[in-house]
Amino acid sequence: MEALLKCTDIWKSFGGFTALKGVNIEVFSGEIVGLIGPNGAGKTTLLNLINGVLKPTKGKVEFEGRIISGKKPHVICRLGIGRVFQIPRPFFEMSCIENVVTALLFNDVRDRGEAEERAMELLEFVGISDPQATPDEITLQDKRRLEMARALATNPRLILVDEYMAGLNIGEIEDALNLFKKIRDDLGITILWVEHVMHAIMKLADRIVVLDHGTKIAEGKPEEIVKDKKVIEAYLGG
Ligand SMILES: Nc1ncnc2c1ncn2[C@@H]1O[C@H](COP(=O)(O)OP(=O)(O)OP(=O)(O)O)[C@@H](O)[C@H]1O
Ligand SMILES: [Mg+2]
Repeated sequence: MEALLKCTDIWKSFGGFTALKGVNIEVFSGEIVGLIGPNGAGKTTLLNLINGVLKPTKGKVEFEGRIISGKKPHVICRLGIGRVFQIPRPFFEMSCIENVVTALLFNDVRDRGEAEERAMELLEFVGISDPQATPDEITLQDKRRLEMARALATNPRLILVDEYMAGLNIGEIEDALNLFKKIRDDLGITILWVEHVMHAIMKLADRIVVLDHGTKIAEGKPEEIVKDKKVIEAYLGG
């Protein structure tokens, strides 16, 4: 089977510092893949290289068989890769629904009425109760849901998620896991997910890739990863 996303020999340097050193990753359609590793391992940098915020120093990123490395973020977004940032970046002066409408109009929806209807559906899907509230009036959980709704509005086949669970309580994490599952199972969207909340990622990821100091040190099913000596030493042991 051809991978949905394929990163081949990815290198990234910032001046004299090399953040990624020849990373290879494949993500297959329908998977939830976890990307874990200690602080500074290069996880967010890799997401930034996939969605075009950064360009690799060397190596290529392919999505649905076409090379996307070097393309701009808005182009990559239109090609079908959505992004959920760790720090929510909504338009703060707009209501939740207006934020999602804006994302829809940026994408393919032309008609405003249609966009409003679709936005309501998406807000309900992610679980936001007050669509008219502005982003500074809602809880952290709802801020994350809003980011997810905005990403879904761009009609992605793959979404890149960065530390979605950070700051959420146990119940909110359960809700988020159910949402991820619905996104994969009901919408058929593949997820590449960076996370530090291990019990969450171990519960839901089909496969986990571990980065340490810019290198992939392990890859496998959650139950294999928790037993991996290199992973325990580099990350889980602490
Ligand atoms: N724009 C940049 N300029 C210089 N160095 C950078 C830049 N972006 C990232 N780095 C460095 O690259 C390394 C990897 O950073 P990255 O943010 O990808 O780590 P991470 O795995 O996401 O860590 P965390 O779990 O803390 O979010 C770090 O040492 C970071 O300081
Ligand atoms: Mg990060």
